[in-house]
Amino acid sequence: MEAGEIALSEREFSRIKARVYQVAGISLSDAKRTLVISRLSKIVRALGLAGFDDYVDYLERGGSAEDGQNFVNALTTNLTRFYREDHHFEHLRRYVGTLIAGKPRGTRLRIWSAACSTGQEPYTVGMDLLAAFPELRRWDFKILGTDIDTAVLRKAALGVYPESELSGLAPERARLLDRRGDGQIEVSAAVRELVSFKPLNLITAWPMKGPFDAIFCRNVAIYFDKPTQGQMFGRFASLLAPEGFLYIGHSENLGSGGDGFKLVGKTIYQSKLKSNKREAA
Ligand SMILES: C[S@@+](CC[C@H](N)C(=O)[O-])C[C@H]1O[C@@H](n2cnc3c(N)ncnc32)[C@H](O)[C@@H]1O
Repeated sequence: MEAGEIALSEREFSRIKARVYQVAGISLSDAKRTLVISRLSKIVRALGLAGFDDYVDYLERGGSAEDGQNFVNALTTNLTRFYREDHHFEHLRRYVGTLIAGKPRGTRLRIWSAACSTGQEPYTVGMDLLAAFPELRRWDFKILGTDIDTAVLRKAALGVYPESELSGLAPERARLLDRRGDGQIEVSAAVRELVSFKPLNLITAWPMKGPFDAIFCRNVAIYFDKPTQGQMFGRFASLLAPEGFLYIGHSENLGSGGDGFKLVGKTIYQSKLKSNKREAA
C-alpha cells in the first residue's frame, strides 16, 4: 500500500462494488481492488472517516449528492483520445455526405456521444464534419456529449488539452486543433459551439427525445454486465433516426440489445427502421 492509503477488507470491497453497480451499473472486477484503494482513500480521509465501512455507511445514510457524485467520479475510467477508432469517423463522414446532399440549409442533424469522457469523441465528430462539409455551419447541427462523471464534463466543456494529445494524429488531423503556444491545444470556437455537454447516467432514464442521426456509445459497455449492456443498447434503437447509425467500442457487441439493429461494418450498427418513416420520427 502507498502512503496515505487505507486498508480495504473483503467485506468493504464487496460493499463498494455493490454500491457502484447500483448507482452506475459499473461491475468492478477483483482486479480493481488497488484502484479502489488508491482512488477512494483520499476521499475517505478528506471526510475525516476512519475507513471504508464508515464511508459506505456515510454515503448510504447521510452523504450529500456531491459526496455520491465524488464516489462515482473516482471510480470511472476515462481514457479517450481524438480520432479513437477512426474508421467510425470516416463512416460517419460518408453518411453525413449522403444526408446533406440536396438538402436545404437549416436541416436538422443531431449526433450523440454517450459516455463522452473529456470530450475528444464529440469534438472529433464536430471537427471532422465541419472540415469535410463547411456548409454544415448553416445547418441545424448539434452534438450532445454526456457522461456520468461531472469532473470529466468540466474538462470537456473547456476544450483545452495538453499538446501530447496530438501525438499519433496525422498532420491534417492535428491541424484541426489550435496550438495555444503554452503547451496546450484547444478546440476551435466554431466546433465548441456545436457541442453541448450534460451529465447523464446511462442506466437511468434519459430525458432526450431524439431522433439522433448517429449515436456513439463506445468503451463504456465494457464496464457493465451483459444484462445492463443489452438493456442500454436496446434503448438506443428508439432514439435513433431511421437508418441512423450506432457506433460501439472495438471489443463490444449489442448482446440482447441488438433487435433494432443490423451490423453493417466493424462495430457499426444501423437502425432497421426504414427512412420513409424518418419525417414522422
Ligand atoms: C473509457 S471512457 C470512453 C470515452 C469515449 N467514449 C471513448 O471511447 O474514447 C468511459 C466513460 O464512461 C463513463 N461512464 C461509466 N459509467 C457510466 C454510466 N453509468 N453512465 C454514463 N457514463 C458512464 C465514464 O465516466 C467514462 O468517462
